[in-house]
Amino acid sequence: MEIVLASANPGKLKEFKELLGSQLVPYRELLGEIAIEESGETFQENAVIKARTIYEALGDPERIVISDDSGISLPILGGAPGIYSARYAGEGATDRENMEKLIGELRKLGVERTPAYYTAAIAIATRYGIFTVHGWMWGEVITEPKGDRGFGYDPIFIPEGFEKTLGQLDSEVKQKISHRAKALELAKIELEVLCGRS
Ligand code: IMP
Repeated sequence: MEIVLASANPGKLKEFKELLGSQLVPYRELLGEIAIEESGETFQENAVIKARTIYEALGDPERIVISDDSGISLPILGGAPGIYSARYAGEGATDRENMEKLIGELRKLGVERTPAYYTAAIAIATRYGIFTVHGWMWGEVITEPKGDRGFGYDPIFIPEGFEKTLGQLDSEVKQKISHRAKALELAKIELEVLCGRS
């Protein structure tokens, strides 16, 4: 069963492909670029908006669309950047600029290391409706980036139980413990049921 991914983020696409396999098709291959306004107030709302937008644009009720809305939250910053992780340094900001902005905010507070967590909300749009699941990964953020693996805030995120950042750890490690992997574990159960029925 072919599943359409409602994301154009290359970091997410790579991780989804590793976790879900070749049955995944990025929506851009079918529809070209579509601007999706992430107007929700939670990860879950934004994931639903993405999945619904692509599902409706495809116009084929038999299709299955999967989306991910994710980000990093720091309790010391009241949960920021949270749902604004991709645009923390402004609309269209690069991963590097967003990470530098976060480091700057922590330096202003005189903090070098502080608790943080990633959240992933995954939505699956089908003719039976839209289903959502969540996954989380806890750890700490540091103000000195290390390593260049992963994407986004990975060079400053040390997962709980590890000494190194996700920028330094092998991608296989991240794929076992990540917020996205945990949410996908649940999503796969839903997909098995939905694919079995269609
Ligand atoms: P979205 O594409 O609107 O869901 O934004 C996700 C943003 O959250 C990304 O651009 C990254 O800044 C951040 N993010 C989400 N998941 C990860 C991850 O696994 N590693 C690093 N950054 C992440």
